[in-house]
Amino acid sequence: MIKTVPTTPYGDQKPGTSGLRKKVPVFQQANYAENFIQAIFDSLEDFAGKTLVIGGDGRFYNREVIQIAIKMAAANGFGRVLVGRGGILSTPAASNVIRKYKAFGGIVLSASHNPGGPTEDFGIKYNIGNGGPAPEKVTDAIFARTKSIDAYRIADVADINLDAEGTQDVAGMTVTVIDPVADYAELMAELFDFDAIRALISGGFTVTFDAMSAVTGPYAKEILENRLGAAKGSVLNFVPLPDFGGHHPDPNLVHAKELYETMMGPDAPDFGAASDGDGDRNLIIGKGIFVTPSDSLAMLAANAHLAPGYAKGLAGIARSMPTSGAADRVAEKLGIGLYETPTGWKFFGNLLDAGLATICGEESAGTGSNHVREKDGLWAVLLWLNILAVRRESVIDIARQHWTTYGRNYYSRHDYEEVDSEAANGLMTALRDQFGTLPGKSFGALTVETADDFSYHDPVDGSVSNNQGVRILFEGGSRVVFRLSGTGTSGATLRVYIERFEPDTARHDLDTQAVLADLIAVADEIAGIRARTGRDEPSVIT
Ligand code: G1P
Ligand code: ZN
Repeated sequence: MIKTVPTTPYGDQKPGTSGLRKKVPVFQQANYAENFIQAIFDSLEDFAGKTLVIGGDGRFYNREVIQIAIKMAAANGFGRVLVGRGGILSTPAASNVIRKYKAFGGIVLSASHNPGGPTEDFGIKYNIGNGGPAPEKVTDAIFARTKSIDAYRIADVADINLDAEGTQDVAGMTVTVIDPVADYAELMAELFDFDAIRALISGGFTVTFDAMSAVTGPYAKEILENRLGAAKGSVLNFVPLPDFGGHHPDPNLVHAKELYETMMGPDAPDFGAASDGDGDRNLIIGKGIFVTPSDSLAMLAANAHLAPGYAKGLAGIARSMPTSGAADRVAEKLGIGLYETPTGWKFFGNLLDAGLATICGEESAGTGSNHVREKDGLWAVLLWLNILAVRRESVIDIARQHWTTYGRNYYSRHDYEEVDSEAANGLMTALRDQFGTLPGKSFGALTVETADDFSYHDPVDGSVSNNQGVRILFEGGSRVVFRLSGTGTSGATLRVYIERFEPDTARHDLDTQAVLADLIAVADEIAGIRARTGRDEPSVIT
């Protein structure tokens, strides 16, 4: 019943920050998914008889690869597979299942916030036993193996019924189809005061959540509507669709524009939120105020003790380097550690495992805590709701009080998508070439203090990650950061992160792009963005 199938390497299966991401037709090539999955198994040791978790965000090609992965897990000697019903598990829910059932690891199928469909994106990611993305030494080993792979093993059996909960046998391995929502909902009920949130909502507080036709629909329906009593219809676009209804399931101000407009309009509910394709990102909008992810991290950290799961306080806060320094001020006030890591959730894993950080966040709408080892969109929504239920103030009032206490970090990210790769690399090289000459140089009122490439020294395992983004720091604490995306599937994406700290409490309601205008101009002057990319303006501004 077990087949060994000869194969040849593809050579292009390098996992990025979030696993292997390619267009669906690439994954549909003969043996393409099989090669990568076998390379994962070949890079692991001592998993015979152990449990593997498998699930995905429901995008096009999800079910096909789930069938392949289950049959290959059986052929490679796993003892048990836990798979979400319908092949569904949000990324944070998968992380929770891995941890809760002490699985050896998990395969998560997703391309996160990227579009889905027959010609759109797909992805395969391996998570280790702590529930988090595999560290670089594992992904490097997987990539190396993909380049020499000559055979894969698969059970030659009929497809598994993914739609009926319960246990089946696959070539001697047990497959249990689980409810994708139940374990996750239970965890959220432990962390947050559901009674308080229910009381807030039954008192007339209104919520709208846009699941963007992606994986969080069933989770949000169950938790927000069924358990917390939000009115039916509070969760929008709650049926996960293979093509996400043709939309980008990316909760930002461009792709969640309707939600944004509702929240800024006269009939706005009290609280609006959205999550992405695989459920790990969040967008938080109060009535009349978009809370930037960097600010949200800081505000959540400052108020987390109001939720039962964090009542004892935080051990520390971790943020990715491009994320604004707003959280740093909270950490300082709380007298706890602040860790600055490279972009990508995997860098938080060691800090969380070692108990150095409790809450983590990235400017790219990822926030989470030590409850799982992935960022978690609904978790952020529920922590906000718990805080609102205790403080009984509006989001905008909480934000203004926060800025009055800590000062405000005006912050924006400009993305230039699908730029010519050579042009993008050239721009980064030219920036690095200026490290020697920039310090001391003035651009109008702005004087460069330092210019460097961020390099991270992991305090837990001592590993060093170099070239994690070019930072230009100006006197007075403003900064511009440049880096190239590691998750795109066509061309290069240049990300420019712009930040200015404003301590003056009278200047807390200014227009962000206007406040940052001089820094934006200087970023272009130093990096030659327009000239090198041929773009007059960014594709996305957040
Ligand atoms: C982007 C975000 C990063 C996030 C990653 C996965 O990566 O910037 O913060 O961890 O997606 O969701 P990038 O495309 O910038 O490499
Ligand atoms: Zn995601």
